[in-house]
Amino acid sequence: MTRYSRIVGTGSALPERLVTNADLVRELAARGIETSEDWIADRTGIQQRYLAAPDVTSSMLGAQAAQAALLSAGVAAADIDLIIVATSTPDFIFPSSACLVQKALGAYGGAAFDVQAVCSGFVYGMATADAMLRTGMARRALVIGAEVFSRILDWNDRGTCVLFGDGAGAVVLAADDSPGILASKLHADGRHESILRTAGSVHSGAVTGHPFLTMDGQAVFKLAVSVLDSVARETVAMAGMAVSDIDWLIPHQANVRILQATGRKLGIAPERVVVTVDRHANTSAASVPLALDTAVRDGRITAGHHVLMEGVGGGFTWGAVLARM
Ligand code: UT7
Repeated sequence: MTRYSRIVGTGSALPERLVTNADLVRELAARGIETSEDWIADRTGIQQRYLAAPDVTSSMLGAQAAQAALLSAGVAAADIDLIIVATSTPDFIFPSSACLVQKALGAYGGAAFDVQAVCSGFVYGMATADAMLRTGMARRALVIGAEVFSRILDWNDRGTCVLFGDGAGAVVLAADDSPGILASKLHADGRHESILRTAGSVHSGAVTGHPFLTMDGQAVFKLAVSVLDSVARETVAMAGMAVSDIDWLIPHQANVRILQATGRKLGIAPERVVVTVDRHANTSAASVPLALDTAVRDGRITAGHHVLMEGVGGGFTWGAVLARM
């Protein structure tokens, strides 16, 4: 009987258009929105982001990331029997982006569904796929975080539109006799649903409510720092390990100050915290797999390393997955 799941490949995809803070400040100024390169860099650590062209969707970026992950794993698309896409910006209301990714990959017949846990979506997807692989429901899974958050931003709201970017990241998880995923823990607290949301819907052919992201930045910041600390400790303890055993911490990439505070609280050295928010901005469910793939490809994360991935975001949701690579 299969007991574990293991990450056997990673991949990512970014849209073509690179927008630096200078570009964005210029574009916003032309619309009468005042911001500055210094404000964005100092408050968030973001230097640039990639924004998707109007005809590029989450499933397209997700499929591209998935193809890169399959290639690095040496696994054929036909051998995938589970696809989970974490996204809050799906192509359609339905079918799921996972079914569209499956079609793009030509990997028919296995299970495919989307996970909606906003910026915690990838970690939710990983924990779900791990449970399914460990119980024998699937043998090879693609877990993908894919977003075009630029579509749900209010470009007149300087407090949010400078923070996000588009992109996708993916991993191939395979059933294995040895771990793999050592522990995972998921949480949500719906009482905080109003501090970060896109409260729009489609009703009788029209968009109702507010179809743009709104956020109480300071409330999200405080909660994020607190839960990223607690769920890291909880997950590491579940695996019977200590925080000092962690080689790499990959928290959701929302704000470099949140990443630094999390590392500091946990006693993890700054050089052991993977930071890509400077390059990608906040890509919601794509941020953790994008950061993972970056650190795998640049040679920082190698076989045997213990990697703690953490998500936090709207819902309010949070969670962590501890993996031995
Ligand atoms: O992925 C989901 C998770 N999301 C997050 O984790 C985001 C968490 N929150 C944050 O990262 C931070 O709260 C922000 C980066 C969003 C904001 O930083 P802050 O230090 O909390 O700033 P603030 O909201 O307190 O705003 C400070 C000032 C305000 O001006 P006044 O009222 O002090 O005069 C804002 O109006 O900064 C102003 N401001 C801006 N100024 C220039 C807000 N946005 C901008 C901007 N450019 N783009």
